[in-house]
Amino acid sequence: MSTLQPVRGTRDLIGEDCRRFRHIAATAAQVAARFGFEEIETPVLESTAVFSRTLGESSDVVSKQMYVFQDRGGDEITLRPEGTAGVARAFISEGLTQNLPLKLFYQGPMFRYERPQKGRYRQFQQFGVELLGPESVQADIEVIACAWQVLRALKLDSQVRLQLNTIGDQESRDAYRTALVAYLRTRMSELSEDSRVRLEKNPLRILDSKDEGDREALKGAPLFSDFLTPAAREFFTRLQAGLSDIGLEFVLDPLLVRGLDYYCHTVFEFTTTAIGAQNAVLAGGRYDGLIKSMGGPHTPGVGWAAGTDRLALMLAELPARPQPVALVPMGESAERAARKLLFELTEAGLAVDVGYGGNMGKRMKRADKIGARLAVILGDNELAKNVALVKDLKSGEQREVALAELRSALLAPPR
Ligand code: HAM
Repeated sequence: MSTLQPVRGTRDLIGEDCRRFRHIAATAAQVAARFGFEEIETPVLESTAVFSRTLGESSDVVSKQMYVFQDRGGDEITLRPEGTAGVARAFISEGLTQNLPLKLFYQGPMFRYERPQKGRYRQFQQFGVELLGPESVQADIEVIACAWQVLRALKLDSQVRLQLNTIGDQESRDAYRTALVAYLRTRMSELSEDSRVRLEKNPLRILDSKDEGDREALKGAPLFSDFLTPAAREFFTRLQAGLSDIGLEFVLDPLLVRGLDYYCHTVFEFTTTAIGAQNAVLAGGRYDGLIKSMGGPHTPGVGWAAGTDRLALMLAELPARPQPVALVPMGESAERAARKLLFELTEAGLAVDVGYGGNMGKRMKRADKIGARLAVILGDNELAKNVALVKDLKSGEQREVALAELRSALLAPPR
């Protein structure tokens, strides 16, 4: 029988990998809390309608990537592919509409049926923030500032850059779409098959196509910036001025359009060259029409989500783990004494590792491997004298310590 493997595109995170993920989530939560965000945890399972209408029927996520199934009761269920639509659903169904402005952050697994590669998985983690209520550009500046501080707190700020664009309001988008489609029809033969389909359904997505032919065809395309309404232009100008005011550098990317349909005005991505093809580590934008489209009251929103898996690939340093003390009992009575010591010392707040079985050499090797600073050796000789042998594993120095004083001796900082 072949051994069972994890599902393609999913991974087991073990030990240090888990610590990376926890460190990222804890750091991001701390920064978000400084900005006044409160945590929300929405279910992994949502009704399919939460996503299909809001992210856009023709978006890649909805048309190709969602894990959709009928549950045993016949309900159409989707494993959430992202967090924003679920937060918007909760905002409406939990009756939070009077609590504006509302600042929420979330973290957890998301699911997309994509072709797996480094930095791209079918189950991945996001950390995200959503700021609901304000129409003002101040909110966009605040969430981008929060994103930047998260990356800085993780010491990743020097490896990323902020790409910024606007996709305007509905009026700007309608005008641009007409112009773009008219232009691309003249270059039809150069377009990829995907883009030809998009031309009918979602022409703006062609702008961020990676296909060589598409990119060539786009070179003479009309520019979105020429189709912005005065109000949309003004919003974008104020966003850029606000980011400059607080010293945040950005690069304007007129081809950045994002893959989900709920966006308007601000769209942004923090990208990196450090982890290969999957270069977006944190992305978001404004979504003023989303909540209304789900049946709620008109409520503007702006937010972002970071790909924890991608940040984890970039993270060089992890906070140190507490250095354990290695307990090395030799013989049956020593094992018994060690059980008691393990209980006492861990309760006193020390990290303790008991070597199970093997001769002295093997146990000392394990103590080394787990990075212990001190080994507490207990044999019949020591027990007879009511002492333990405390060995400094770096210097090799060892001394006898009375069992009654062991706790305070081990808690004392290293000399
Ligand atoms: P998104 O761009 O689809 O936006 O995803 C945000 C981030 O999640 C990406 O930049 C990437 O780092 C990570 N990510 C996406 N797909 C994968 C994958 N298959 N494997 C690993 N990481 C992945 C959203 O999800 C929006 N909800 C963000 C948002 C919040 N906009 C407004 N508020």
